Amino acid sequence: MAYVELHDINKHFKKFHASKDINISIEKGKLVALLGPSGSGKTTILRMIAGLEQPDSGEIVIDGKVVNNVPGSERGIGFVFQNYALFRYMNVYDNIAFGLRVKKVPEDKIKERVTELLTLINCEGLEKRYPSQLSGGQKQRVAFARALAPNPQILLLDEPFAAIDAKVRLELRTWLRQMITKLNITSIFVTHDQDEAIEVADEIIVTNQGRVEQSGTPQELYKNPATPFVAQFIGNSVEVKNYDKFRYFDKTGETSVAYLRPEFVSIFKKGESVQFANSAEEAVVEDIIFRGSNIEVKVRIHDNLISAIRSINNPEIKVGETVDVFIYRIYVVQGDEVILATNSSLADEAIVI
Ligand SMILES: Nc1ncnc2c1ncn2[C@@H]1O[C@H](COP(=O)(O)OP(=O)(O)OP(=O)(O)O)[C@@H](O)[C@H]1O
Ligand SMILES: [Mg+2]
Repeated sequence: MAYVELHDINKHFKKFHASKDINISIEKGKLVALLGPSGSGKTTILRMIAGLEQPDSGEIVIDGKVVNNVPGSERGIGFVFQNYALFRYMNVYDNIAFGLRVKKVPEDKIKERVTELLTLINCEGLEKRYPSQLSGGQKQRVAFARALAPNPQILLLDEPFAAIDAKVRLELRTWLRQMITKLNITSIFVTHDQDEAIEVADEIIVTNQGRVEQSGTPQELYKNPATPFVAQFIGNSVEVKNYDKFRYFDKTGETSVAYLRPEFVSIFKKGESVQFANSAEEAVVEDIIFRGSNIEVKVRIHDNLISAIRSINNPEIKVGETVDVFIYRIYVVQGDEVILATNSSLADEAIVI
């Protein structure tokens, strides 16, 4: 049995249906991401697990026990909020000690635990500082230590890095991954940043309009999006119309929409690839975006603006240049399903990839 389970959870805020038939199952010790657009119900799910919100129907099960009627404070949960939510008028030491004082733990035991946590989060020597005297990354690490202090079995983090700038954010997410592996604590974190979820999580639960669209490992989700929403939401997907006009793609069923990702496309200078020349499309480069380690080349094909990533080590391509565009694969939407269509020229044995 999984460690945290949600069975058929529904939740309304007045008439608004914020959680719809939510079923979730999380194994002990895993780091799971709740990923979805703003308003899709991520925080609501987290708050129900924490006991800060009651579902209208369904069961929340922790470690085999239904906890719907167990107060949040007795569920063994630590919560890290989006905007640090440190107590401004308390120094770092008192912030971390807070949950232990609520539990009336003796001061000498508190001192031991706070000292241990300060080392864990690399903030030794900062115990007398107030939140306003800390960097964003430090504040978030203190918030993490405060949530961990009472030894929770489950850690919930609501957009823990949202207010932190890009570089520190990258460091912090690697740090968080290492911490959680080390502590082996079942953790659920909310994010709307897919890169964060893909890099950090063992499993991703994608939410959309109050529902769970799909859950699985980052690889499963990335490679096999199960619904049209996931196909457009994950990866750098662009919607394409009339994909059957692309060479070597046949129309399947009554489809009008398909999604293409840059990694499904290669762009070659004329004569650069003998291999794909016969099954490539000719197109004119409309835009080039320098991305540091590579470039994004944009071309228009059958009225669709599509992108490919190209190494900066390859011969340079310029705007206005006529190029060969080879499309390997495409996600085709058929009703509620998504099918991966492959360029049929790839079946030709003359082409080696
Ligand atoms: N207390 C509340 N009263 C009324 N409506 C609410 C309440 N809490 C949430 N909602 C609504 O429920 C929906 C889901 O909200 P929730 O906070 O779970 O979304 P979210 O996925 O966390 O979004 P974000 O990424 O913006 O934080 C939203 O439309 C929100 O307006
Ligand atoms: Mg939220």
